[in-house]
Amino acid sequence: MLEAAPPLQAATEVAGEGAGGPSMRHFIDLSALSKADVRAILDEAHRRKQARAGWPKALPDADAPLHGHALAMIFQKNSTRTRVSFDIGIRQLGGAPIIMNASETQLGRGETVEDTARVLSRMVDLVMIRANNHQDVLDFAAASTAPVINGLTDLSHPCQILADIMTIEEWRGPIEGKTIAWLGDGNNVCMSFVHAAEKLPFTLRIATPPHYAPRRQEIEAAQKAGAQVRVTNDPHAAIAGADVVVTDTWVSMGDTDKDQRMKAFPPYAVDEVIMQRAAPDAIFLHCLPAHRGEEVMDAVMDAPNSAVWDEAENRIHAQKAVMLWCLGKI
Ligand code: CP
Ligand code: NVA
Repeated sequence: MLEAAPPLQAATEVAGEGAGGPSMRHFIDLSALSKADVRAILDEAHRRKQARAGWPKALPDADAPLHGHALAMIFQKNSTRTRVSFDIGIRQLGGAPIIMNASETQLGRGETVEDTARVLSRMVDLVMIRANNHQDVLDFAAASTAPVINGLTDLSHPCQILADIMTIEEWRGPIEGKTIAWLGDGNNVCMSFVHAAEKLPFTLRIATPPHYAPRRQEIEAAQKAGAQVRVTNDPHAAIAGADVVVTDTWVSMGDTDKDQRMKAFPPYAVDEVIMQRAAPDAIFLHCLPAHRGEEVMDAVMDAPNSAVWDEAENRIHAQKAVMLWCLGKI
């Protein structure tokens, strides 16, 4: 076991039972869902994707299960995929999207997260937040009377990982028994893979430079919860025979130590040479945006076994199922 970054408070639970009561289904981290619910969300995502294959993108699904419902999205950070996939996803479910740049709302002038939550949750049926600080999502959820979805924080990105698992299953069949190798930063996306490993039967091998490992406290909690997860500094050991190879940017939104990172991460770059060590039919995933020539080379991004474009599209399908789960429809 390696030296990990100092443990931060692993804030994954909404304080008390929250304003929405004990049955309110917030989607904040995969670690808080049951195994059965994670599986049900994935199955619904696969089913709905298949049912509308080839349809125009904004045409609602045949049953339009969220007809009349509104989703508000709050962005404190940039986004392309999360923004468009939730927007088109709620329309496909028959509902309506509202997109807000946090800095253009009264949040940007100091209205509290909790007061914003109290107001918005009277006006819409669901709220998605992309936040700088995970705690803001928890505070919002605690005050909200509508379900809240984590659209990425400094600590996690659970929507992304559902799309990733869905993509793996499309390309290579059931996730059971697969080995996933994560190379690079032990960041928010990596942490949601760890949470997923608690709920689904796959093996996760994480290779990061010293000082950029996921928080040890959370790795230990995941292992205790049954996750098959190992952390190493050796990218070759992590990738050996893996069915899936994943990486992400070396400098996430909000990271301020770019110079140090650019020195530490090059041995973890995913190129054609290191891909040779994975299983012969290994697929490549990246949540995107990619920094071609840094964490991944063109030859890997654009290879026939790169599943990154399906992965991006699957954000729509996975999140539709998340929204349905939040509202008790699955
Ligand atoms: N992968 C992802 O969340 O992309 P965006 O930052 O474009 O939303
Ligand atoms: N780790 C990246 C993911 C972007 C979707 C970030 O937080 O910037």
